[in-house]
Amino acid sequence: MSQPERQPKNIALAWTGASGIQYGIRLLECLLEAGCEVSLMVSKPAQVVIGMETDLALPGRVAELQKALRERFATATGRVSVYGRDQWTAPLASGSAAPDAMVVCPCTTATVSAVATGASRSLIERAADVALKEGKPTLLVVRETPLSAIHLENMLRLSRAGAVIMPAAPGFYHRPRSVQDLIDFMVARILDHLGIPQSIMPPWGSDKEEI
Ligand SMILES: Cc1cc2nc3c(=O)[nH]c(=O)nc-3n(C[C@H](O)[C@H](O)[C@H](O)COP(=O)(O)O)c2cc1C
Repeated sequence: MSQPERQPKNIALAWTGASGIQYGIRLLECLLEAGCEVSLMVSKPAQVVIGMETDLALPGRVAELQKALRERFATATGRVSVYGRDQWTAPLASGSAAPDAMVVCPCTTATVSAVATGASRSLIERAADVALKEGKPTLLVVRETPLSAIHLENMLRLSRAGAVIMPAAPGFYHRPRSVQDLIDFMVARILDHLGIPQSIMPPWGSDKEEI
């Protein structure tokens, strides 16, 4: 597993409109508990998915969403800042102020396509474009099934450009007992890739007796 040289502190996190928004919400929680500064972007379709897949009543407006999330995670040592779709003055939009790493979780095939072509028409797309061009760890937690040749070609293109494609495909070897266990499996693997210490899921083999 490739890891950044130092523990990343500034993380750009994008929630896009794929099923599995629970992964993104849990990841935000873990990043803030780990003391990270998180720059959060939420696409409009992601707001729809939040409404369909969770009981969370998160406001749509950027300032209100930021307030709600800061209240929800008030005990965490990290801090979340929320940015809007067209907020081109955000630090994320420039390589001179690029975050340490970027994660799109969950990531739609639409966003995969946009990032693969360098479209940069929204702040999410631009931030991913910046993270890639600056050589920052860029993780895309893609959720779709089945995958077409278009999806696969876009992902291959991104992988060749330095992105890490992490399909939202939790393992079962830890004997999950709940949906939360499955969510935590994915989030733990994401944190491992970012080089952020986590205790929600031990690495493979660490609980086995030595032979
Ligand atoms: C409830 C719901 C679930 C969806 N699930 C997925 C999904 O798992 N994967 C995907 O690629 N698109 C999914 N979509 C479609 C995307 O939201 C749609 O393509 C949208 O344009 C993506 O825009 P975004 O990438 O800017 O969020 C879903 C849409 C809805 C409403």
